[in-house]
Amino acid sequence: MSPTCAKECHQEITQRKGLHRAAQESCESCHVVTDQEKHTFSLVTKTREELCKKCHSLPHQNVAHPPVRDGKCYECHDPHGSEYPHLLVADPRRELCTRCHSQTVGQAKHVHGPVAFGACVICHKPHGSSEPKLLSVDSKTLCLSCHPEVEAKTGSHGHKALEEGCTRCHDAHASNHPYQLHELAPKLCLQCHQQKFDAMTKNAKVLHGAVTVEGGCSRCHAAHSSTLPALQRGTQPGICLDCHNKPTQTPDGTDLADMAALLKNNPNHHGPIREGACTSCHSPHAGDHFRLLIQDYTPDFYAPFKLENFQLCFTCHIPDLVLKQTGRGLTQFRSGDTNLHYLHVNQQKGRTCRACHEVHASKRPAHIREAVPFGSSGWMLEINFRADEQGGSCSPGCHTPKTYVRGDSVKPTVLKADSPVKGSDSTP
Ligand code: HEC
Ligand code: HEC
Ligand code: HEC
Ligand code: HEC
Ligand code: HEC
Ligand code: HEC
Ligand code: HEC
Ligand code: HEC
Ligand code: HEC
Ligand code: HEC
Ligand code: HEC
Ligand code: HEC
Ligand code: HEC
Repeated sequence: MSPTCAKECHQEITQRKGLHRAAQESCESCHVVTDQEKHTFSLVTKTREELCKKCHSLPHQNVAHPPVRDGKCYECHDPHGSEYPHLLVADPRRELCTRCHSQTVGQAKHVHGPVAFGACVICHKPHGSSEPKLLSVDSKTLCLSCHPEVEAKTGSHGHKALEEGCTRCHDAHASNHPYQLHELAPKLCLQCHQQKFDAMTKNAKVLHGAVTVEGGCSRCHAAHSSTLPALQRGTQPGICLDCHNKPTQTPDGTDLADMAALLKNNPNHHGPIREGACTSCHSPHAGDHFRLLIQDYTPDFYAPFKLENFQLCFTCHIPDLVLKQTGRGLTQFRSGDTNLHYLHVNQQKGRTCRACHEVHASKRPAHIREAVPFGSSGWMLEINFRADEQGGSCSPGCHTPKTYVRGDSVKPTVLKADSPVKGSDSTP
């Protein structure tokens, strides 16, 4: 056989866009006649698998693609010529690989951009590679070559998880979760943080719904890096109000306030909230105290006095506020020398701080509440608190209208020296 075969009968072989040099030069380098009469041919080698190796030797690599290793060059290349480059039997950026690897994408809902396109050879070498999985470079470098923004910028904290590569969390090809994640949080995160999570939550009395709900961890934490400590996705209260911008229910059915509305409608914000530190009072994940508080704070309206009942407030405020019966410089809530905090709180049936103060935000000075609940009916009685230079007054349902006058202007120290949150107060 010679190129005349192509000219005379087998034109289709030479009419392709790309021709194999070997076929242009001589048909006989691959075909030999077995029966001239019947016009039958066999290959010059015993098997198809040996044929190409006669003239081509591919560089040896650690990882060889099985069809290449087994000499099945014809699975991807046409021995004569092709419309596609490199004599390929199909478009390498579209369907060449999926002819055998249809399961790589399968029915998954979220497909990685280059994979959806079919451009497998952007990441994989078709013959062999020194990298596992025939990758053209190591997997993380590969991802970062197209997604450089994922690497932690200088000054920000990176997530150690990235050291194990991007594919610990992402499927390089496709998955049923957004961003081709293997799993959604919390499952995704607990692959590595299970132990810590168990330690935090196993015996905790209160578990924050945010950590168990699907996607919850990611509402507060960035996956790759953050300029904030503990990989917080954004500043507080923002990350909290992302969910607490509507009334929420605890598992026992208690309605929780819409904190976004509460903060918006009450312009006088408590010091730590002005500082953006919800977690100076609340554990973000789980805890042993009522409402996830980091310290005890009695849930009751009246409670026998014990300092421990108000430990939360006294992580920042000075305990003498309620411990000392008389004295100046302890509180503004005094009548002359008489400490009215002591008077109200430090008793067998003491009023809790809650009886008078809002803890997040208020309209009145000193975070005094507008009204208190009365009896079990849920009736609200207005307190009508007023403050002035000399003292203050209220006319609650609890007793007849009362006024207190300090008689001097000695100001109290509001915060302990080691308070975790400072403030420059809104006290009028
Ligand atoms: C590099 C080796 C090689 C060269 C050169 C080559 N062929 Fe082939 N050819 C093959 C292989 C391999 C097959 C498939 C045989 C098989 O499957 O058993 C084949 C098959 C064929 C067939 C069968 C039908 C088909 O298309 O599969 C024809 C006809 C053919 N070749 C003609 C030619 C002609 C004409 C030339 C010269 C212009 C030529 N070949 C040059 C390797 C070659
Ligand atoms: C008789 C020798 C010979 C045989 C047998 C042979 N080739 Fe080739 N092949 C060549 C030559 C010569 C070139 C041109 C080399 C160049 O351009 O550097 C070539 C080039 C190629 C190219 C590159 C084409 C391009 O456009 O980049 C591919 C792919 C290829 N051969 C595949 C095969 C396959 C598959 C087989 C077995 C079916 C095979 N060759 C068998 C001689 C051969
Ligand atoms: C799984 C599909 C596949 C198989 C099997 C395969 N190749 Fe390739 N080959 C490709 C692709 C795709 C290219 C295009 C170059 C690239 O993208 O790296 C290519 C390119 C080539 C080239 C030209 C460029 C280069 O890398 O030198 C030659 C020669 C070649 N192949 C020979 C072979 C031989 C010989 C075999 C069998 C031992 C073989 N190929 C098996 C997919 C395959
Ligand atoms: C003719 C069938 C066939 C074609 C076409 C094919 N492959 Fe494969 N490939 C296999 C087989 C068989 C294996 C080994 C079993 C497996 O992992 O599925 C494999 C394995 C792989 C692996 C895993 C290697 C490893 O070390 O685990 C990668 C990556 C791969 N192929 C990429 C490609 C790419 C990219 C293409 C297109 C250029 C392609 N394949 C085309 C048959 C094929
Ligand atoms: C964006 C880069 C990229 C593209 C595009 C890509 N892959 Fe991969 N592929 C990878 C990485 C990275 C791995 C290794 C995964 C791992 O280690 O978990 C891999 C692994 C594989 C494996 C080994 C089995 C597995 O799933 O781990 C096969 C087979 C494979 N790819 C085939 C393909 C095919 C077929 C295409 C095109 C449809 C393709 N890949 C496109 C990056 C890519
Ligand atoms: C060749 C360039 C390229 C490489 C390499 C690459 N990607 Fe992509 N990636 C893209 C493109 C293009 C998109 C789709 C465009 C988009 O949605 O932003 C995308 C989208 C993504 C998305 C979804 C983004 C979104 O907003 O929905 C993730 C996650 C992703 N890639 C992760 C990876 C990982 C992990 C690797 C390494 C295994 C990787 N990429 C390698 C080009 C690349
Ligand atoms: C610890 C798990 C984890 C690791 C490791 C990880 N990611 Fe992500 N990635 C995520 C999650 C979760 C998202 C979804 C968005 C979010 O929560 O911030 C995401 C989103 C993305 C996105 C789309 C949106 C965005 O933030 O840009 C890209 C692209 C991306 N990842 C690429 C990468 C690359 C590249 C690497 C490796 C350098 C990597 N990821 C490593 C978990 C991870
Ligand atoms: C592949 C393992 C792995 C996965 C998956 C993973 N992490 Fe991590 N993460 C680590 C390692 C390692 C550290 C550093 C040691 C430590 O603090 O436990 C870390 C630290 C952290 C830290 C503390 C960072 C700091 O600076 O204090 C947070 C927060 C975190 N991860 C959140 C997440 C979230 C949220 C997810 C799920 C989206 C997740 N992690 C998934 C391995 C992982
Ligand atoms: C992903 C949504 C989400 C985010 C983000 C979120 N929470 Fe929550 N939170 C909830 C849900 C749902 C509940 C009620 C159900 C429960 O706790 O199981 C709740 C309950 C609470 C409770 C009452 C707990 C109880 O059971 O008594 C407090 C206090 C709280 N959140 C504070 C915060 C703080 C502080 C932040 C920010 C650091 C925050 N939340 C961020 C969803 C969220
Ligand atoms: C409501 C917001 C929120 C949610 C939801 C949340 N975290 Fe956190 N996480 C934080 C904050 C804020 C910190 C900083 C430490 C602190 O203030 O107590 C933190 C700290 C961490 C730390 C590092 C500190 C430590 O305790 O070692 C890890 C690890 C962590 N979180 C993992 C997770 C994982 C995993 C999930 C999901 C199961 C999750 N977080 C859900 C807000 C959250
Ligand atoms: C100074 C400590 C402190 C700070 C700071 C703080 N909280 Fe609270 N939070 C409390 C206390 C105490 C309660 C219980 C109130 C009660 O029942 O009287 C509470 C209750 C809650 C509740 C349940 C509300 C309800 O209706 O029972 C949510 C939700 C909440 N806080 C979210 C937040 C968010 C979001 C932030 C940041 C904007 C924040 N907290 C900052 C102390 C604080
Ligand atoms: C009977 C009502 C009432 C109760 C109960 C109460 N307070 Fe007050 N508190 C006030 C009033 C009124 C002021 C404002 C006094 C002023 O500015 O004239 C005040 C002021 C404060 C101040 C600002 C500094 C100061 O002392 O002037 C702090 C801090 C404070 N209270 C903490 C607490 C704590 C902690 C509790 C619970 C242990 C508590 N209060 C219980 C009425 C109360
Ligand atoms: C994490 C620290 C912290 C905790 C816990 C805390 N506070 Fe405060 N509190 C502050 C800061 C900061 C200010 C503002 C002081 C300033 O600006 O001088 C403040 C101010 C106040 C004021 C005075 C506001 C004014 O305008 O005079 C009252 C009342 C108050 N806190 C009550 C409470 C009560 C009740 C609790 C317990 C439920 C509590 N605080 C827990 C940090 C805290």
